[in-house]
Amino acid sequence: MKIAPSILAADMADLGGALKVCEAGGADAVHFDVMDGHFVPNLSFGIPVLEALAARTRLPIDVHLMVERPERLLGEYLRAGAAWVSVHWEAASHLDRVLSQIREAGARAGVALNPATPVEMLGDCIHNLDFVLLMSVNPGFSGQSFLPRALEKARTLRRILDERRLDVEIEMDGGIGAGNIREVARAGVDVSVAGSAVFGTDDPVATLRELQRAQEIT
Ligand code: DX5
Ligand code: ZN
Repeated sequence: MKIAPSILAADMADLGGALKVCEAGGADAVHFDVMDGHFVPNLSFGIPVLEALAARTRLPIDVHLMVERPERLLGEYLRAGAAWVSVHWEAASHLDRVLSQIREAGARAGVALNPATPVEMLGDCIHNLDFVLLMSVNPGFSGQSFLPRALEKARTLRRILDERRLDVEIEMDGGIGAGNIREVARAGVDVSVAGSAVFGTDDPVATLRELQRAQEIT
């Protein structure tokens, strides 16, 4: 399983340092949470921050757009260096068009589902995406508790993907740490996002490595 640390939980005055943590700890991607204060009750990073960080790392940046009408600024995020982009099912009315735009720009396209949105709602767009991001907390903040129902959702989605022989990754985001990462991996998740479990510790590089080891033990 891959790990994508969420820099939302890092020291905002040292995001360059957060990238170094991700690289030194062997992260597979850097999770970058974009919030607009409308879709979620919080604000985070914008395009200039993404551009500056993308220029500083060779790791793919996994841009999670928690914004209403993501199509408005999508082109800017893609130009700024987003390698993976997920848009929320609940926020995009022309999902198929948005996913095509992401793929045409050479990035990986994902759809994010809030805890209350069932995986069946993906409908036809499941054929036009590279990954599904299952929220295991309600989006907006780092440091919230994992909602265990997300595990069943991952199992259901894994079954659907396997039955249809679709090459789509499952990413899970929110409340993941040493205590549950193995369970998350066993539920069929391919990419775990971890924010406070990594950056909230005294030695985030060591923590990141520990998380990788923890999920490998079967
Ligand atoms: C929540 C964000 C998450 C968050 C994860 O809205 O999408 O990516 O940063 O943080 P933790 O791992 O602390 O729950
Ligand atoms: Zn996120």
